[in-house]
Amino acid sequence: MGKTKVLITGVAGLLGANFSRYLLSKGYDVIGIDDMSGGYESNVPEDCILYKVNLLKDSEIQRIFEREKPDYVYHFAAYAAVCLSPFIRKFNYQNNIVCSANVINACIKNNVKKLIFSSSMDVYGDQEPPFTEDMRPFPADPYGISKYAIELDLKSAAEQFGLRYTIVRPHNIAGVYQNIWDRYRNVIGIWIRKTLAKEPITIYGNGEQVRSFSDVRFYMRPFEKLMEGFDSEIFNIGADYYCSINELADTFKNVVDKLGYDVSKVYLEKRHEVQEAYCNHTKAKRMLEFYDETDLASLIREMFTWAKTEPSRSVKFMEYEIEKGMYSFWRND
Ligand SMILES: NC(=O)c1ccc[n+]([C@@H]2O[C@H](COP(=O)([O-])OP(=O)(O)OC[C@H]3O[C@@H](n4cnc5c(N)ncnc54)[C@H](O)[C@@H]3O)[C@@H](O)[C@H]2O)c1
Repeated sequence: MGKTKVLITGVAGLLGANFSRYLLSKGYDVIGIDDMSGGYESNVPEDCILYKVNLLKDSEIQRIFEREKPDYVYHFAAYAAVCLSPFIRKFNYQNNIVCSANVINACIKNNVKKLIFSSSMDVYGDQEPPFTEDMRPFPADPYGISKYAIELDLKSAAEQFGLRYTIVRPHNIAGVYQNIWDRYRNVIGIWIRKTLAKEPITIYGNGEQVRSFSDVRFYMRPFEKLMEGFDSEIFNIGADYYCSINELADTFKNVVDKLGYDVSKVYLEKRHEVQEAYCNHTKAKRMLEFYDETDLASLIREMFTWAKTEPSRSVKFMEYEIEKGMYSFWRND
């Protein structure tokens, strides 16, 4: 019997780069698809077969699936900029819904054993945390709406075509290979880039927004286990410990001070965003043996040390579909 073949979309991003390495170390064959719009080719491990393709190109995606015949597909590719998504609505739906539809079609046509979809905590919207999987999603922005649309689409594809799937709703993951050159997302990454450039770190609003940050390494084994079963299930995965952005900034400053860098803070205009968001993970702990031992200080230290070895890259600027109400710090003029 040959090795199990796993195809990962978004292989050059944070989750993809870490999970592809994990699977290769466990003896799987790994095929990756990524258009490098939000990740970097140097993040992709050498032993991974890489296709540099935009998932919008459905006929190319179909050809890759026909050629590679993957057993399992992990669909990680997306552009996950929650607060920017209202300003790039059309792009968001194309990239996060239409691309996902292309992946789902390819899985159905090529008899993939199972599709694992990385949704988001963002589907819960502005409800009382901690969020549990049995809460009805009420996404509050186009990014969350696109994730929820695909969750519903998977259910429909399972009922009509027998497509097996599992949904994971992660939140605020961090680690090595995270894109730190995107000014619209990844708060720890943005602060690392700003500190290396000797700029103050930026906080939106009063910094009392509450989030829960988790180390990507704790996602690996639970993700792998999803090949074994858990069909049609939904799992929250992430850290139990939550903190305000101000507390995160204090931890960041403590760590980075010790590495010999000065950190000062600047408070900017408030963004339209959910004030408190974190999840309950009892289900993943019970069914997937998930555990989380995220140590924020060592995670920040590890990411900072890695970032210093990375080439200096240009910062990403998006083309906006709507300028109205754009925050002063994101205006392109
Ligand atoms: N990182 C988090 O905190 C977090 C939280 C909740 C959900 N998620 C979800 O998990 C998934 C992975 O997140 P991540 O942090 O690794 O993101 P990431 O941005 O680091 O990686 C996504 C990768 O997908 C690729 N990609 C995007 N659009 C593509 C397209 N049209 N065609 C081909 N490739 C494309 C990008 O180039 C990038 O390498 C995403 O679906 C994201 O929405 C992430």
